[in-house]
Order: sequence, then structure tokens, then C-alpha cells
Amino acid sequence: MLIIDDVSKTFNPGTVNEKKALDHFSLTVEDGDFITIVGSNGAGKSTLFNAAAGMFYPDSGKIMLDGRNITFVPDYQRAKYIGRLFQDPLKGTAPHMTIEENLALAYLRAGTSGIFSRISRKDREKFREQLKKLDMGLEDRMDVPVGMLSGGQRQALTLLMAVIVPPKILLLDEHTAALDPAAAEKIMKLTEQIVGENRITCLMVTHNLHQAVSVGNRTLMMADGHIVLDLKGEERKGLTIEDLLMMFRRGEGKDLDNDRILLSD
Ligand SMILES: Nc1ncnc2c1ncn2[C@@H]1O[C@H](COP(=O)(O)OP(=O)(O)OP(=O)(O)O)[C@@H](O)[C@H]1O
Ligand SMILES: [Mg+2]
Repeated sequence: MLIIDDVSKTFNPGTVNEKKALDHFSLTVEDGDFITIVGSNGAGKSTLFNAAAGMFYPDSGKIMLDGRNITFVPDYQRAKYIGRLFQDPLKGTAPHMTIEENLALAYLRAGTSGIFSRISRKDREKFREQLKKLDMGLEDRMDVPVGMLSGGQRQALTLLMAVIVPPKILLLDEHTAALDPAAAEKIMKLTEQIVGENRITCLMVTHNLHQAVSVGNRTLMMADGHIVLDLKGEERKGLTIEDLLMMFRRGEGKDLDNDRILLSD
């Protein structure tokens, strides 16, 4: 599905601020994988997503999506196939537009008919049904500006917008980190439900180690621009947070260092 092949990226090369954010990084994401990613601060997790989404071109290496070389395909073209959520719930939606308008925009942008086509009554019904599944009462507030919603509601809507036309791959970058615990839990449940129902291939950065071992089918640990651990199948079964931390220490020769890490759920 997604192949990151020997990708390197150095920021500010040749200056005192030089930073190798991805260091000969390789990863093959299988169709249907739901990969959780944890790592130290500055390990290169967001940079990995930025590389996949085309926010910059790598210094070297290759990126393939579904058999197609997309290394130099610009971000706005990739956005059709790659859904993305960020930590900040304000990032994915237009505050002055209504819930319905936001959904329509996402739908037309990702769809095949183009953004100048129109939303039909059937489309609107589909939006209502999808909103209902969120179980937040948003289906009765479709004409409310999104700026009126809570962070959790807004992130749920962003999630829906990202998958209203299912993307080839969904990138979630700590998308529950800015929410209060109850909202975070709700969004996490919705994420698992939506990703599962639509069989979306998904990569999720999290600072919650419980999620890292329990959500999805594969766990990746990163440090200094490379992969420290890649656990799936039998190796991942029954994996505890303690195992994870120990394996990291053994692989890296130091402890996982992340100021936001959560050791319990
Ligand atoms: N646009 C940029 N310009 C300069 N340096 C950058 C840029 N983006 C990232 N970096 C640097 O690259 C390194 C990796 O950053 P990245 O944001 O990918 O880390 P991360 O693993 O997402 O960390 P965190 O857990 O704190 O979110 C960091 O040292 C960061 O300062
Ligand atoms: Mg990050």
C-alpha cells in the first residue's frame, strides 16, 4: 500500500540548526494495516507523515502509494488519497462554514466529480446518517457553524470529513492529545469503529502507550529518525507497556524520552 523506501530528510543543512529528522527511513505499510507509532520527542513521527503527505520532498529515497511513485507528487494532489488529522481540532475544518458545508467540501474535494458540482438530496441524507453514527446529535445541527462546536465534536467531524470518501491511507498525528479525557476516549472509539468499518489503512501517532499496544495490528517505535521496533503478529500479542519500554531501552541504549507520554490509559 504505502512504501517509504530509504527516505532521508535533514532540516537546515549546513547550519547550527541542522537536524536529521528522517535517517534512511524505510517502512512498508500493508493494505489494511492499522499501525500505532510512538517515539521520543523529535523522533521524526510528524516528519514521516509530512513526507508521506508531500509537505516537502525527501532529500533522498522514494515513496510509493498503491504501486505508484509519488515521491515528487505535490501535497494538494496527494490530499485526494491521503486523509490527515492533527492534534489541533481547529485545523481540519472551516469555522464559519456549517457542518453540512464542511462535509460537502470534503466530499466534493475527495470525490471524482469536482468541487464545482452540487450536493444532492441523497448526499445530504448520507451526511446525516454518517453524523448520526457519531452519536453526538450533530445530525440535528447541520446548519450550525463549526466554530460553535466543542473540540471533541470538531475532531469527530474532521474524522468524518477525512473518510467521507475513504482515503487510501489515513494519517492521525496525536489527534486526541488536545482533548479532555472523556472526549479523547470517545474520539478513539470512533476512530477504531470508522477505520474498521471502512477497512482504512491507518497510521496513528500516539503518546498513549496503552493505545500503542492495544489499538490496531502493529506497533512502531521511533527515535532519531529511524525505527527502533516494529511489532506485529505473534510478537505483539500480549505485549505490555513494560515490554515496550524495555525493548526500546534494549534497542536504543536509552529510555524513551517523551514529555507527553502516558503510561496508563
Ligand atoms: N519544518 C521544520 N524545520 C526545521 N526543523 C524541523 C521541521 N520539522 C521538524 N523539524 C525538526 O525535526 C525533528 C523531528 O521533528 P518531528 O516534528 O517530526 O518530531 P516528532 O517525533 O513528531 O516529535 P513530537 O513527539 O514532539 O511531536 C525535530 O528535531 C524538529 O525540531
Ligand atoms: Mg509530532
